Amino acid sequence: MRTQVGIVGAGPAGLLLSHLLHRQGVESILIEGRSRQYVEDRVRAGVLEQGTADLMVETGVGDRLKREGLIHHGVMFRFQGRTHRFDFTELAGGRAIFVYPQNKVVADLFDARLAAGGKIFFEADDVSIHDIGDGGGKARPKIRFRANGEQQEIECDFIAGCDGFHGVCRPSIPEGALTVFERVYPFGWLGILAEAPPSSDELIYAYHERGFALLSMRSPTISRLYIQCTPEEDLNQWPDDRIWQELHRRLATADGGWKLTEGPVLQKGVTGMRSFVVEPMQYGKLFLAGDAAHIVPPTGAKGLNLAAADVVVLARALKEFYTSNRRDLLEKYSTICLRRVWKAQRFSWWMTSMLHLFDTDNAFDRRRQLAELDYVTGSHAASQTLAENYVGLPMDPL
Ligand code: FAD
Ligand code: PHB
Repeated sequence: MRTQVGIVGAGPAGLLLSHLLHRQGVESILIEGRSRQYVEDRVRAGVLEQGTADLMVETGVGDRLKREGLIHHGVMFRFQGRTHRFDFTELAGGRAIFVYPQNKVVADLFDARLAAGGKIFFEADDVSIHDIGDGGGKARPKIRFRANGEQQEIECDFIAGCDGFHGVCRPSIPEGALTVFERVYPFGWLGILAEAPPSSDELIYAYHERGFALLSMRSPTISRLYIQCTPEEDLNQWPDDRIWQELHRRLATADGGWKLTEGPVLQKGVTGMRSFVVEPMQYGKLFLAGDAAHIVPPTGAKGLNLAAADVVVLARALKEFYTSNRRDLLEKYSTICLRRVWKAQRFSWWMTSMLHLFDTDNAFDRRRQLAELDYVTGSHAASQTLAENYVGLPMDPL
């Protein structure tokens, strides 16, 4: 089998890339290790930047987003029992965020790809990539895997490694060609999905002496809530009652006037937190995109949005290659992406550092964090900085 671009991984990065390439007349095949159901059911991101939402609408996969996405014109910070709202309308020039779950993003993209006759191999085993070259023009990259009981090989011009943090593409690059930049945080998030109407119209990020908490949502009837925990927290120690009790405490207001609505817990899980970047994001004819190239701690809600920004750059560079035989954009892919990636890394690290308790911190650090929260909520300039980053920096010009 042959195609122009072989894409490993049908998460948000791979699916969106395949969709954008199709619209630009470039052919691709997606190879996914899991079933469609598994990918769609995975509970992950919930917040789309304005630019990501616009991209979905402009490229014809935004109908359900327009109907069901919840537009938010602000977010809240709560600390010392006080609540502060960042008003995006005023602070971010009218840009906003959209609460629209990753599950729906990938479902919409699967529908669009399959309706357009796109080829996707699901439940592919033993996926491996070969002959990616080292920048010379002669390599004929191949993707080998087993699917539907048969050994398969796809020969392609380029491979897009969109297979997430634990995928096979990044480790296929020869040792020494990549530099890794990494920070692992000494905590994680325990997250629940609950059948309860959200207790706030907007997200609440809470700094509390017992640890960080976040109130988010998926729909007018489903809440998504997180509490800071240890990275290897044992879920068996967390019956639903204990989770709700902790959420009540960390999200409480000083006057006790705000109430958290409880409901049946539909799902719970623990996520570790890390910042991670590899440089460069390409090697020969392999291009890494999304979580395969970088991970952010979820506090800034940036992961899925960064994946989208990467594939916009890659799709454009591939289109220029096929229509004008231009190679310069492909050569600059990593450089273009990394400028935005590092700004999102900085923002995610900053939000994480400001809002979580670190066990190495002392009383001085707590006072420093409170002063930072007081400053960012009190200063117009600082609030604007937060809002501008939260709604999303512009996608890079090419
Ligand atoms: P993935 O979603 O990981 O997709 C990779 C795909 O590749 C998967 O389908 C996987 O099955 C497949 N794959 C892996 N290995 C192979 C292989 N060997 N062969 C074939 N296929 C393979 N981001 C936000 O923007 N906003 C948020 O609010 C947010 N909240 C989050 C909350 C949580 C709890 C978590 C865990 C993440 C959150 N994120 C958020 C991050 C976001 O979910 C990720 O950044 C996003 O999924 C990245 O997309 P991706 O396509 O690069 O990778
Ligand atoms: C979510 O809804 O899952 C979510 C929202 C905001 C974040 C992280 C996760 O910063």
